[in-house]
Amino acid sequence: MLRLPKIPSSEITPPELFYNRRRFLKTMAAAVGGLALAACAGPTAAPTPAPATTGAGPTGKTDELGDPLTDREAILNYNNYFEFSTNKQAVARLAADFPTSPWQVQVGGLVNKPRVFDLDDLRRFGLEERIYRLRCVEAWSMVIPWLGFPLRKLLETVEPTSQARYVRFEAVYDPDRMPGQRNTWYEWPYVEGLRLDEAMHDLTILAMGLYGEPLAPQNGAPVRLVVPWKYGFKSIKAIVKIDLVAEQPSSLWMIAAPHEYGFYANVNPDVPHPRWSQRTERRIGELGRRETLPFNGYAEQVAHLYAGMDLRKYY
Ligand code: MTE
Repeated sequence: MLRLPKIPSSEITPPELFYNRRRFLKTMAAAVGGLALAACAGPTAAPTPAPATTGAGPTGKTDELGDPLTDREAILNYNNYFEFSTNKQAVARLAADFPTSPWQVQVGGLVNKPRVFDLDDLRRFGLEERIYRLRCVEAWSMVIPWLGFPLRKLLETVEPTSQARYVRFEAVYDPDRMPGQRNTWYEWPYVEGLRLDEAMHDLTILAMGLYGEPLAPQNGAPVRLVVPWKYGFKSIKAIVKIDLVAEQPSSLWMIAAPHEYGFYANVNPDVPHPRWSQRTERRIGELGRRETLPFNGYAEQVAHLYAGMDLRKYY
C-alpha cells in the first residue's frame, strides 16, 4: 500500500500537470513510489506558501461561526484562475490589466425574457455584503466579505420556463489576454452549472465586489458566482453568459478529470478526493488545520436540497 504524505495544499497539482507528469515518469520508467508522489509537488519546484497573516481583518468582522475575515491581501494574492496561470501567486500580476468594463452578461436559453445585462443593470439588483467561507477542493479555505446580490433576483427577471431545470454559466474567452487559455488540456471557456433550485437558493450570489471594493480582476471581475456550500471551483469567475437549460450541463472540470470532479461538488469531509483527503482544511492565515464541515458549514440551509441523494457519489 502506498502511503500518501501530507501535501501542502498550495502545492496540489492541477490534473493536467499531474497526468502529464505521470506520462513523463512512465516513459522514464521511473514510477517508483517516492518519485511518483513527487509528481504531486506543484508546478513550481519551490513551495509557494500562502500569506501567513493571522487575526481578524481590520474590520474585526467575523462570519456567523465567529471566524475572522481572511486578510484582504491574501484574498487578492492567492488565487485560482486557470485562464491566467496555475500559479496562485502569479494570477494577480497576470490579470492586473485585464479589461473588465464595459462588460455584458447574456442571459437566455429556456426563459421567456432573454436579456443582455450590462454592469449598471447588474448593480441595480442592489449589492449587499455576504460573509462566506470559501473552501477550495484543494483543502484550503478563506472567509471572504463579498458584495453581491442573490442570483435568484436575476433569474426571476428573465422568467425561466417550466422546462428549465439547470443553469449553465460560461466565463469569458480571450486567449490573447488570458495566457492560460492557450493550454489546450482544458476545454475553454470555463463552464460551470447548478441545478435550478441551487441557483435560486438565497445563499447563491453573483458577486461584484469584496471588502467593500469592486472585484479585482484576479477574483473574477466584474461578476462571478459564489456558491458557499460547494467547492470553490463551482464559483465561476468573469461570467459572460448564463443559460437556463433542460439537461445537466458539463463543466470544464468534469470534462478535464471526470473521475475527480462531479457536477454537485458539495463540500463533504466524508468523501475524499481521489488524490487527497477532504477531512481537514488549511484556513489561509492560520497555523494548523481545521475540520472541514459538511456543506462547508451551511448544512442547515442547504442539506434539504439533496434529500434522498447518495452524497458519497460524485454524480
Ligand atoms: N473561475 C474561472 N473562470 N476560472 C478558474 O480557474 N477557479 C475556481 C473558482 N472560479 C476558477 C474560477 C477555483 S478552483 C477557486 S478555489 C475559486 O475560483 C478561487 O477564487 P478566488 O481566487 O477569488 O479565491
